[in-house]
Amino acid sequence: KPSTPSHQRQAINAKPLTRSPKGFKQVAHKYPMLSLSNSYSREEIADWISKLPEDVEIVCELKYDGLSISLWYEDGVLTKALTRGDGVKGDNVIENIRTIASIPQHLPIANSQSPITNTFLELRGEVLLPWAAFERLNKEREEQEETLFANPRNAAAGTLKLQNPATVAARGLDAYLYYMLGDNLPTDNHYENLQRAREWGFKVSDTMRVLHNLDEIKAFIDYWDVERRNLPVATDGIVLKVASIEQQEELGYTAKSPRWAIAYKFQAEKALTKLVSVDFQVGRTGAVTPVANL
Ligand code: IVH
Repeated sequence: KPSTPSHQRQAINAKPLTRSPKGFKQVAHKYPMLSLSNSYSREEIADWISKLPEDVEIVCELKYDGLSISLWYEDGVLTKALTRGDGVKGDNVIENIRTIASIPQHLPIANSQSPITNTFLELRGEVLLPWAAFERLNKEREEQEETLFANPRNAAAGTLKLQNPATVAARGLDAYLYYMLGDNLPTDNHYENLQRAREWGFKVSDTMRVLHNLDEIKAFIDYWDVERRNLPVATDGIVLKVASIEQQEELGYTAKSPRWAIAYKFQAEKALTKLVSVDFQVGRTGAVTPVANL
């Protein structure tokens, strides 16, 4: 059975290291949580593709604008849910993650030989607050004269760190899965592995496509640059990944990010607004910060 490339592995240290200021136990990641290298132009994408093998299949996905989460399934049971933290260790926020209906507590058990039992499997994805839940939350906060969250990402971050899972449940977090790691993966293909995750009950976006060349990828980017406005959740780009796990292994990693994947960031949305006034906030040290009221 295919497994996660050996160079990605780290010594397993499942013991809690310490507690974060919010009181969550910190746990070392089994596989470091790296970020993606970002690109902002079609030229950079073309350059990335030119370094890939000729027969490559590229999985194109949306880049969800939330917080990454690492879900540990041991013998088919959800045992930990770690935030990214510093990439080496993260906070175990499992009680809050258990409030998300689209994250299964158990993987389906086919039989004792099943690759999803008697083994370790890690599912990675993005935790987010859908637009509708974000707007509802801010409306409630406005009524209670509390500070508003600037965007769904900040709201999701604040929610994930709450101490009371009942409050978390009421806020309505959701999660999209985008990667699978482990010693016994179901297939040697990233796209196929995610299809499997969907069959197990995870939310995997059906916007994901397997594409083969720059023209197809450009069309995908152009389409989603506009259509993303109609999605129920915030996105900030596209992620391109080599589909074959074997080819991923051959391409490997730089110090910070995989060579087998790249993010294309959408341009930040621009809009016209009116400057109503400017406040000058005086900090503890006497530093003055101008704050625009728009
Ligand atoms: S793949 C080893 N796929 O973007 C690479 N990441 O800087 C694993 N993200 O920390 C990341 N949507 O939180 C991947 N479809 C997607 C994603 C995605 C959002 C986030 C993720 C990651 C950051 C990359």
